[in-house]
Amino acid sequence: MLAIDATPRLWAHLLDLRAGQAVADRPEWTAAERAALELYAPIARRDTAPLVLGQIGQSLDGRVATVTGDARDVSGPDGLVHLHRIRALVDAVVIGIGTALHDTPQLTVRLVPGDSPARVVIDPSGRLPDDAPMLAPNGARRIVVQAVDRPRPAGVEVVRLARTGERLQPAAILSALRERGLHSILVEGGSTTLAHFLEAGCLDRLHVAVAPLIIGAGPAGLTTSPVERLSRACRPVTRVYGLGSDVLFDCQMPEAETQGARPRGGARAGLDAAVASHGPAMQPDR
Ligand SMILES: NC(=O)c1ccc[n+]([C@@H]2O[C@H](COP(=O)([O-])OP(=O)(O)OC[C@H]3O[C@@H](n4cnc5c(N)ncnc54)[C@H](OP(=O)(O)O)[C@@H]3O)[C@@H](O)[C@H]2O)c1
Repeated sequence: MLAIDATPRLWAHLLDLRAGQAVADRPEWTAAERAALELYAPIARRDTAPLVLGQIGQSLDGRVATVTGDARDVSGPDGLVHLHRIRALVDAVVIGIGTALHDTPQLTVRLVPGDSPARVVIDPSGRLPDDAPMLAPNGARRIVVQAVDRPRPAGVEVVRLARTGERLQPAAILSALRERGLHSILVEGGSTTLAHFLEAGCLDRLHVAVAPLIIGAGPAGLTTSPVERLSRACRPVTRVYGLGSDVLFDCQMPEAETQGARPRGGARAGLDAAVASHGPAMQPDR
């Protein structure tokens, strides 16, 4: 496991990368700064293909909330700072309506220096109230993806998509966001939304931050279609980082086998290079 240290000088370097500035690498990074660079630089870089990063914060027993839906402190303090870091490095953060209604998140960057990303909610049936905190004007773009004809407050952009069966296709959502200039996307939950993106082959990377608590019951981090044999389970190439309070599994998702969701490759190359130089931190135990 690599312990990371996103020091102020390292974070400033990452924000320069995020701004598209050509910045020289510094040979004198400490080992922990270099680990942070390997984790965050592929997300920050703007000279690469679009990136879709999923993230989930869960307990040791794989829960993301209690049975009553209390999810506020599942992640430890360093897991929360990590979440704000990745928000600051992407163009847009996407959540499902379940999270928007239950957690009423602001989706802003508050725990690290950096700009807040565009906020996107997938709300097919138009359930989000107009006074939801994530629709409050604070300079960042606000976007609602919906399947119904429902007016939204002034300044809120609406993406109208048709359902395929019950769902809006994640590839169509990503395509609509790209058309609006949003190329690096953080899918921040909840688990239903993440599972849709995962099953559609629309995630390049998945961050699973595990905090040392046992909740015992409650919604699971990810639930996808069942497989009969472990040989059919998804085994992403994974590196493990110590965030401090939490442990982060940084997973490179397998190439999409379905529907040619979108262009891929550049941002993955950063992780590929990192993995090639260090080897995957977690190998299947066969
Ligand atoms: N620990 C964490 O990291 C974390 C992060 C986020 C949330 N949470 C917790 O997770 C819970 C909420 O998660 P959730 O899974 O219930 O809800 P969710 O994923 O936030 O929202 C699911 C809903 O969003 C809409 N949706 C999302 N993707 C869609 C698609 N591709 N096509 C059509 N509709 C789509 C649907 O709305 P309709 O039902 O209107 O069709 C769906 O029912 C809360 O308890 C929250 O606290 C935890």
